Amino acid sequence: MLKHERLAAWLEEIRSICKPDSIVLCDGSETEYNNMMELLLESGAASKLNETKRPNSYLIRSDPADVARVESRTFICTDSKEDAGPNNNWEDPAKMKDTLSRLFDGCMQGRVMYVIPFSMGPVGSPIAHIGIEITDSPYVVASMHIMTRVGKKVLDELGTKGDFVPCVHSVGVPLEKNQKDVTWPCNPENLYVAHFPKTREIWSFGSGYGGNALLGKKCFALRIASTMAKDEGWLAEHMLILKLTNPEGISRYIAGAFPSACGKTNLAMLIPTIPGWKVETVGDDICWMKFSNNGQLYAINPEAGFFGVAPGTGMGSNPNAMRSLEANCIFTNVAETDDGDVWWEGKSEPPSHLIDWKGNDWTPASNEPAAHPNARFTVSASQCPAIAKEWEDLAGVPISAILFGGRRATVVPLVNEARDWAQGTFFGSIVSSEKTAAADGKIGELRRDPMAMLPFCGYNMADYWAHWISLGAQKENSLPKIYYVNWFRKNAKGDFLWPGFGENSRVLKWIFDRCEGKAEAVETPIVNLPDTKSIDMEGLEPKNIDLEKLLKIEVDGWLEEIPLIREYYRNYGDKVPKELERELTLLSEKLEKAKKVA
Ligand code: OXD
Ligand code: MN
Repeated sequence: MLKHERLAAWLEEIRSICKPDSIVLCDGSETEYNNMMELLLESGAASKLNETKRPNSYLIRSDPADVARVESRTFICTDSKEDAGPNNNWEDPAKMKDTLSRLFDGCMQGRVMYVIPFSMGPVGSPIAHIGIEITDSPYVVASMHIMTRVGKKVLDELGTKGDFVPCVHSVGVPLEKNQKDVTWPCNPENLYVAHFPKTREIWSFGSGYGGNALLGKKCFALRIASTMAKDEGWLAEHMLILKLTNPEGISRYIAGAFPSACGKTNLAMLIPTIPGWKVETVGDDICWMKFSNNGQLYAINPEAGFFGVAPGTGMGSNPNAMRSLEANCIFTNVAETDDGDVWWEGKSEPPSHLIDWKGNDWTPASNEPAAHPNARFTVSASQCPAIAKEWEDLAGVPISAILFGGRRATVVPLVNEARDWAQGTFFGSIVSSEKTAAADGKIGELRRDPMAMLPFCGYNMADYWAHWISLGAQKENSLPKIYYVNWFRKNAKGDFLWPGFGENSRVLKWIFDRCEGKAEAVETPIVNLPDTKSIDMEGLEPKNIDLEKLLKIEVDGWLEEIPLIREYYRNYGDKVPKELERELTLLSEKLEKAKKVA
């Protein structure tokens, strides 16, 4: 039936290992999606939401032990440990294959093996790539329908010899004959999310949730794609892509890297508060960029949907996201209202009664949140009212500027502009951020998250910095400007100094105008900063925003960072590119000088 020999042979191999009861080749059709939802309803994992309030939408409750990406069980399996780097959990490929072959042996007994041909990126784009995910989870099939392009068109594009990334996933719970399934099968004690960069394979066992299970997203589009990008001279990044249009109708495209749950979706869908400006969305999480023949960097969003964090999303913070969620949506681990709709913290005032994400009664007096902090919505990007008309352009969109940012209460100013690509790469490499609920671990703890890629770079981070530096050194490339932004600075009382959300358009405007060669920057000993007059503050409420403080270079604070950065770089030994070491030395010298002057 399949004309692609390598694909047919691989499917047969996986079938013989996993021993499913049957195999289904997914066609990406609406009927198939509805069948998956029927199965989830039957198993009790899903409930259908009130059809008049939220048409064709479902609420799914996962097992409480399977709610986020599990970084501690995510592995990069390269021949040498150094190739994976200190940023990854390493395992020897043969040893990992051995472990996996034991776990996967018979793991789909009593289940259906679904084969999902999917494209990351618009089918036929020169920047897109194809994957095939094998899974025994109907939830994964339905989610992949939304998050990627699935089905026959992908197989047609693959032809008889096309390349694909093989992705194998199992929830890791085989069923005996007549054994009743649990509502959310998973096997957290034996969880593995394993990547093999050399053979470009992904094997995931034991989790049915998000980035652990939808293998096109973090596993392929970031960890494996970042290694492909290094080998082939392009960039696979944890970045949103937005289109910004000024009142004269000129548009520019900006990409931005922010750690998980730091507002990428909000920024990508922002409604500017400054008159005449418009933001449209190209992507909210992942960005693949390649230089064209004339040296211009073009980007595509490899995904077809949004898998966004629900808590904190509301009509105030992100009306475009809220409007995207009006129908045809899967919600996971949010709370359910008494009239069969969904609710989460930050959506609106809490109702007097809810069923929480674990299925228990909840009232505002409860001590626990009603929705899990990493509760998600899954929805097609095409439903976003702010989607840019170019979002599926095969050629991608030309990138003018790249933003790096994190969640930092102190030190990092609202925005600064790198002098050049090398300094921009340096800023990207030192980004640190307070940890959020998107991954397991301690929330609020500060960790370095270079280019927001710490959990997602499929190889040694220092080699990744070197890759960035090398792309910038190629003379024929015309490079985007790079900015380091921080919307999260706080005063001593712990209040945010900047209102964020739609007001971030004021910063985007400055960046846009810099790209146009119009706005002023002040050259400080450290970086280029806007002066307080070049950020448009017209109409901003409250009026007492302390822009001076937001833009201030905290010499002492930065000086305290220097040894921390040095120590951080030391983890990567002599692999750290000399250009970044040079930037660090330069920064430290300039800070010392600035301290003396002050
Ligand atoms: C995500 C993440 O799901 O970064 O996008 O965790
Ligand atoms: Mn992400």
